Amino acid sequence: MEGLYEMHAHILADVDDGARNIEETKEILKLEYADGVRKIFLTPHYRKGMFETSEDDILKQYEAAKEIAKEIDEDFELILGCEFYASGDIEVLQNEPTRTLGNTNFVLLEFSDTFSYRDIQNKCYELLMNNYIPIIAHAERYSILRKKIEYVEQIVDMGVYIQINASSILGLDGFNMKRFCKKLMKSDLLHFVGSDVHNLTTRKPLIGKCAKYVEKVMGEEYMKKIFIDNPFEIIK
Ligand SMILES: [Fe+2]
Repeated sequence: MEGLYEMHAHILADVDDGARNIEETKEILKLEYADGVRKIFLTPHYRKGMFETSEDDILKQYEAAKEIAKEIDEDFELILGCEFYASGDIEVLQNEPTRTLGNTNFVLLEFSDTFSYRDIQNKCYELLMNNYIPIIAHAERYSILRKKIEYVEQIVDMGVYIQINASSILGLDGFNMKRFCKKLMKSDLLHFVGSDVHNLTTRKPLIGKCAKYVEKVMGEEYMKKIFIDNPFEIIK
């Protein structure tokens, strides 16, 4: 399988809790490529008080990573994005375009389990009102959404998109998680999949394996929609 997109990746060196150095960046990129991935949204964390790496530092690492990707294959494309934590202000998005996905109005939006459903709704609403389109990062992680799939339906109806992690689909994060992900797929409430890769050991690239599994469960057409067509729409 080739031409797949990776939607969620901490591959840039020394900008967050992902790759620690450029060698690790290189090894992860090689694995992604071998996995059939040809386009990667790089999504370093932006989280007030925790991860506030400057745009300049991120851009420096982005250039270095692009060089490596080019050495692997001319058509191996890296798109700069961000995983934006929900406490972040709209002004950050407006002033620093690298905090969106590929300088579009799509925002990979991260919450934590302390957020209520109302908090999630409000933050999504705030972004939508400011012409941003939220994609909820690893939506399966939030117990409030797992408990009530109707909540996922409601936010999708608002115009929000859903990203889930390959590890959860594959069952590496437990049976409940796997079952919930399957339910999302069967209910057409899933739009994007990412590895959320951070390193070569505990959180590695899984897109190829996951795409094969999704194809088996949901069919080829569905797999292509999730791993190729939907991500393509973002940059188009
Ligand atoms: Fe992440």
